[in-house]
Amino acid sequence: MKQLFINIKELLQVRENKVDKLSGAEMKELPTIKNAWLLIEDDTIADYGEMDSLPEINADKTIDAEGKIILPSWCDSHTHIVYAGNRELEFADRINGLSYEEIANRGGGILNSAKTLQETSEEEVYQQSAKRLEEVIKLGTGAVEIKSGYGLTEEGELKMLRVIKKLQQNYELPIKATFLGAHAIPKEYKERPDAYMDLVIEKILPKVAEENLAEYIDIFCEKGYFSVADTHKLLSAAKKFGLKPKIHVNQFNAIGGIQAGIEHDALSVDHLEVMRPEDIESLKETSTMPVALPSCSLFLSIPYTPAREMLDSGLPLALATDFNPGSTPSGNMNLVVSLACIKMKMTPEEAINAATINGAYAMELSKTHGSITKGKKANFILTGKIPSYTFLPYAFGTNSIESVFINGKRIE
Ligand code: NIG
Ligand code: FE
Repeated sequence: MKQLFINIKELLQVRENKVDKLSGAEMKELPTIKNAWLLIEDDTIADYGEMDSLPEINADKTIDAEGKIILPSWCDSHTHIVYAGNRELEFADRINGLSYEEIANRGGGILNSAKTLQETSEEEVYQQSAKRLEEVIKLGTGAVEIKSGYGLTEEGELKMLRVIKKLQQNYELPIKATFLGAHAIPKEYKERPDAYMDLVIEKILPKVAEENLAEYIDIFCEKGYFSVADTHKLLSAAKKFGLKPKIHVNQFNAIGGIQAGIEHDALSVDHLEVMRPEDIESLKETSTMPVALPSCSLFLSIPYTPAREMLDSGLPLALATDFNPGSTPSGNMNLVVSLACIKMKMTPEEAINAATINGAYAMELSKTHGSITKGKKANFILTGKIPSYTFLPYAFGTNSIESVFINGKRIE
């Protein structure tokens, strides 16, 4: 089926030459076509151009997009969408003065979510997670990564990963699965954390690989969670099963997690709220994508990733939501893009690049997603009538999206 969009006010992120990712000054440029047309054939972007040179096209359906903008769907490369229950009581505790760390130390936080997940059936976890996935699709997300990490037992972790697998089977957008067994140390292992690492590496990881449940490996490399030595050990073990690293580093403390990730050719290093000059230096000339999660900074009132410094040093940067019950109960990429502009001083062009093509790179999807390019998947956002693309991050909190398309199908 051929669908033709005409009179598009502006078609964003049009890239003739296939780019994998954008770095430094390249991110300042967002190529667009004003007064454009776009042709979709089945699930694929077939062609586009300026209205002045619209050829004769025999389309099955023609959509007038006058005054509206089309851009590639958001590529959210870091989420924990699969979880059970919520943690709004901890949110209230934080308002009343407790810190995220204090809550975690008294058994709240990740361990609280793990307890709920273990007590919830796989079907119920699936239902709760599918609802969140549908919510973020409507907010313009057209490719997403989802982590395990609230199981923290063999049964719990496999349950989460099977839920992710079921989501992959039932939804059309690409969903990438990451094994995050090393998310927190369960209470029973508090006095012998090495035994928990052994469980993750020797028992759970081989099962995950055997059932082909994840493409990526993650670890929360942070004081009070997992050390740099743990990170090396896990990433080396995961490599033998073909799992590539996408890891949580430098959220509260810089302890060398970035360097460990780079040593293991991490696809991405995520969070980066605390960056030392040597951390920026280490990332230069690597294939590792730094990923910032500004809605986590907003929700926890912690520093924002120093995007300006990183981009001005020539680094690439991707933006993602971190959707999870504790530090970011929101999967809204539009808010993420706004926050990147408002709080991280990224330009709208940089933020849109970071949330599309660079997000796709952080999921190994930039060959098929993240830009308007002939042959790529027809995953895109059609906005309502808006004055310019800068209006998107400017009007934060306003939903400027009229409809979203996944594989050429309009999501109802
Ligand atoms: O990415 N930092 C580690 N993990 C999650 C938060 C987990 C939670 O609080 O449930 C994050 O922020
Ligand atoms: Fe996270």
